[in-house]
Amino acid sequence: MLEQLNALQKEAEESLTQVTDLKSLNDLRVKYLGKKGPMTEIMKQMGKLSAEEKPLVGARANEVRTALAKQIEAAQARLEEEAIITKLQEETIDVTLPGTKVGAGTPHLLTQVIEELEDLFIGMGYRVAEGPEVELDYYNFEALNLPKGHPARDMQDSFYITENTLLRTQTSPVQARTMEKHDFKNGPIKIICPGKVYRRDNDDATHSHQFTQIEGLVVGENITFSDLKGTLTVLAKKMFGDDREIRLRPSFFPFTEPSVEMDISCFKCGGSGCRVCKGTGWIEILGSGMVHPNVLEMSGIDSKKYSGFAFGMGPERIAMLKYGVDDIRHLYTNDLRFAEQFAAQETEGR
Ligand code: DAH
Repeated sequence: MLEQLNALQKEAEESLTQVTDLKSLNDLRVKYLGKKGPMTEIMKQMGKLSAEEKPLVGARANEVRTALAKQIEAAQARLEEEAIITKLQEETIDVTLPGTKVGAGTPHLLTQVIEELEDLFIGMGYRVAEGPEVELDYYNFEALNLPKGHPARDMQDSFYITENTLLRTQTSPVQARTMEKHDFKNGPIKIICPGKVYRRDNDDATHSHQFTQIEGLVVGENITFSDLKGTLTVLAKKMFGDDREIRLRPSFFPFTEPSVEMDISCFKCGGSGCRVCKGTGWIEILGSGMVHPNVLEMSGIDSKKYSGFAFGMGPERIAMLKYGVDDIRHLYTNDLRFAEQFAAQETEGR
C-alpha cells in the first residue's frame, strides 16, 4: 500500500509539472484529492491492514495528501500569475507609436475672406454691426430712398414674406437701422456690416439666391468724397496687392448721390489685359457713393450738418477673383475637395 501511495504521489507530481491552465489543474485536484479519487480509495482499504501497518500507511497517506495539496496550491498561484502577465502583455500599449491624426477643420474660404475684410476695417476704426435677415420693407427699401413703386426696386428681385416683410436683398438696411439709433455725441458712425442676403435669382456660375455682402458706412461732420476714395484705395491695396490702382466710374444707386462703381487695376496682368479682366485691364469690385441727403434725413440726421459715404461689396466675388474660383456654387456646395484647398493658408495666417 505504501508503494501504491508512492506511485500515486509520483504520478500526481508529474502531471502537476505539466499542467498549463487553471481548468486542467482543477481537474487534477478532483482526480487525486476528490472523494472518488485514489486517495479515498486507499483510505477505505486501511481497515484491512494490520495494527502495525495502519499508523505507517495512515501517516504516509496524510503526508502525500498534504504534499499534493501544497503543490496544487503552488501550481494554482503560478498559473494565476501567468494569466495576469499574459493579460497585461496583451493589453500593452506602445506609447511611442505615432497617434492617429485627427483632421482639424479650418474656416471656409468665404469666412476667411469676410474675416480678412473685417480685420482690415476694424484696423481703420470701424465697428462690426449686424441686422436681421428677415427685414421690414421700410428698412430694406423705403428708408434707403426707394419708396413703394419706385422702378429701381426691380434691380433686386425679392423674396417677400408678407406685404411689409422680406428676406433682405442687401445689407444696406443696416445703414438705416444704425443711423436711426446713433447719437453723434459718441463720435461719427463708422461701421461695416457683413451678412447674408437673398434674391430671387436662378442659381448659376455667377448667381446664387443667397449670398453675402459687406456694407460700409461712415457718417460724420466734413466727410467728403476724398475720404471715400482714400478708404477704397486702402481696401484695394490691402486685398489685392500694394501696386493696385483704383478707378471710379459714375453709377446709380438710389441711396447714394453721387454714386460710383469702383474698379481695381487687374492684379493678374497689371492692366495690360488678360482673361481675368476680360481684356480691359480693370476689374469691377464694388458699388459706393456719398449717402443721399434723403437717406440721412429719413433716419433723423441733419444732412446740412452731417455727410457720409457708403459702400457695398460681395465677399463671394472677392474670394472668386482672389483665389481663381470659377463658379460661385463651389462656395456653397460644401465639397471637401474644394474646401480643403484653402485650409493650409488659413492655418498659417492664424
Ligand atoms: N446694396 C447695393 C447692392 O446690393 C450695394 C451698394 C452699392 C451698397 C452702393 C452701398 C452703396 O452702400 O453705397 O447692389
